[in-house]
Amino acid sequence: MTPQRLLGLTASHRKTGNSEIVLKAVAEKLPSWELSLVRLPDLKILPCKGCYACLMPGARCNLADDMEWLLEQIIGADGLIFAVPNYVMGPVGIMKMIADRALQAVAHYDRMRGKRTALALTLGREDYRGYADTALISQAAALGLFISRTELFYGTHPAEAALDERFSEKTASLALALSGEKAEIPNPGKRCPRCGSDLFRLRDGEFECALCKARATQEGSLLRFHYFHPEFGDEGREAHMKWLVGKKIEFREMKERLSEIQSRYRGGRWLSPRQEQAGDNE
Ligand SMILES: Cc1cc2nc3c(=O)[nH]c(=O)nc-3n(C[C@H](O)[C@H](O)[C@H](O)COP(=O)(O)O)c2cc1C
Repeated sequence: MTPQRLLGLTASHRKTGNSEIVLKAVAEKLPSWELSLVRLPDLKILPCKGCYACLMPGARCNLADDMEWLLEQIIGADGLIFAVPNYVMGPVGIMKMIADRALQAVAHYDRMRGKRTALALTLGREDYRGYADTALISQAAALGLFISRTELFYGTHPAEAALDERFSEKTASLALALSGEKAEIPNPGKRCPRCGSDLFRLRDGEFECALCKARATQEGSLLRFHYFHPEFGDEGREAHMKWLVGKKIEFREMKERLSEIQSRYRGGRWLSPRQEQAGDNE
């Protein structure tokens, strides 16, 4: 029988740092799976140019980098685990660079959808968690992946996370989620049951999930969710994609009018560390 393919993606530069160790410790708990690893900061991932070219049927992103290769690795895996350090209260930047290319992943949705994915956030301290875990869940989900479980691993020095007495329990929990145990939202009543966010806005005296606009009232120390905005479910995602394609078509019709506005704002004295790029750019 061919082994299940587990793809471990670390967003840390640190060799045998906490993220890399978490990936390997989870894989140890899945002995019949075959682990392959990718160090995301070693990839060439360019910033999305915002041209929406990848949305058009049959079109491809024209950035020459490793994003398409990365998507193929993801598609080829049976399960994924991202291990991502918290930098400055949020997931380290390479995760956002990859998530910003999510529109390019849309063409692969049929092969990516529902791909079981475990998330590990490595971080120094709980009081500096910031928005990191919520953002990580949203960034991975933006690629069309199904987030089976998220765990937080605390440690500042490389390998320190493994000293935590709950390290083995947490890696086992991720392994279990990858091997098919039903996904569960940690901290029910404190996180949005649909998207996993624990960031909320006050809206008309209620709590509104900052990501998916689900609504909740407070009952004791817990939130009771009573409304889920249709736009942020699976059907809503498809409707949003159609809307985006519509905007691309609309752009063709509005192009001249918009270009007139742009012409008033072209040029400028742009500074660049590369001399040839500086000057009065048109
Ligand atoms: C530039 C930088 C910023 C960091 N910011 C945070 C932070 O905001 N919150 C936090 O809990 N840890 C923060 N950390 C600590 C790392 O998240 C932590 O050491 C993590 O375990 C690193 O994982 P790694 O060993 O896989 O690289 C920061 C570390 C660095 C280098």
